[in-house]
Amino acid sequence: MDDPGNLLTPNDFRKAARQALERSAYDYFISGSDAQKLKRRNRAAWDALEIRHRVLVDVSKVDTSTELLGLKLPFPAMIAPMAYQRLAHPVGELATARASAASGVPLVVSTMANVALEEIAGVKRAPLWFQLYCHRDREITKDLIQRAEAAGYRALVVTVDAPVLGRRLADERNAFDLPKGLTRANLDRYAGSGSVASDGSELAELFRTRQDASLTWDDIDWIRSLTKLPVLLKGIVRGDDAKRAADAGCAGVIVSNHGGRQLDASIASARALPEVVAGVEDRIPVLVDGGIEWGADILRALALGAKAVLIGRPILWGLAVAGEAGVRRVLEIYQEDFTRATQLAGCASITDIDSDLL
Ligand code: FNR
Ligand code: LAC
Repeated sequence: MDDPGNLLTPNDFRKAARQALERSAYDYFISGSDAQKLKRRNRAAWDALEIRHRVLVDVSKVDTSTELLGLKLPFPAMIAPMAYQRLAHPVGELATARASAASGVPLVVSTMANVALEEIAGVKRAPLWFQLYCHRDREITKDLIQRAEAAGYRALVVTVDAPVLGRRLADERNAFDLPKGLTRANLDRYAGSGSVASDGSELAELFRTRQDASLTWDDIDWIRSLTKLPVLLKGIVRGDDAKRAADAGCAGVIVSNHGGRQLDASIASARALPEVVAGVEDRIPVLVDGGIEWGADILRALALGAKAVLIGRPILWGLAVAGEAGVRRVLEIYQEDFTRATQLAGCASITDIDSDLL
């Protein structure tokens, strides 16, 4: 495998990953939906937040660790749930989980993983949450929740911004499908859960035929009734929805537009974050993702009131370039970069990062 030592930024990893990956896999990973404007707006919204750095503060020692729902995070970041990781590397989600265990950065495992959730949970000391997509067949949904709890996952992340899949034009053009030998391993055991026939994107067709577009707040109550695990909602961008999530007993919300892969016209996550933070009134933690590329973006998210961020595509680039070692290096880069940004902003601990910096 490539030596990732001379790759310095997430974008360096992206370029190297592009060389390493099949075209259709790279296209699936990188794509936004429709005109793909939101991906750029996600980035631009972080860039627009200027930090009023403090000076002459002793920042010789910085503690970047934090706590989130009983997990200790080495710095305020987690790995976002992302489908189909064996398209990036033969070891797939197991390599990501090993990097998570080695670094202590928690991993959210996707329903659409290519390795079964029980096998991933076999990676020692990996701090894991499970991301849930709700199937029309409620027995499957219920079974997935119970399997995740039995396997030792520490929280359930219900993704609520994907009643249908956003339209990814590259996947349609590529007639994107899983190559032979790869499966949606979590679903293998359920009858009738194999691939679906499609001329365009098989994943989009799968969402149309198997995922539940009728999901409502009542179903969140139903999901909560099935498990003792804390339940977070991913894909919230409005204060009223965030308040409702807290009222409904959810343990947290994740401000997200799915990395610009769902509604291209949706609001950039940095712009939605303040309203969501105000909506929950400190009752539950708020996380955010979408275009987090620099340590300073994590600083900006915390200054707006987020408790932590989720890192998406750059993890896949690390995985594609060098498997577990690549993901570890990407996480190290983020941690070093966040530590430096914190010091340069004149903050000696993450509790010093607040709205006064903006
Ligand atoms: C995703 N995302 C996602 N989200 C989710 O809840 N379940 C999933 O299975 C997936 N799968 C997935 C695959 C790929 C290839 C990507 C790029 C993204 C969305 C993901 O969790 C996260 O919200 C975004 O990726 C964050 O944006 P950045 O960091 O990629 O810009
Ligand atoms: C995606 C789905 C699987 O964004 O969440 O591709």
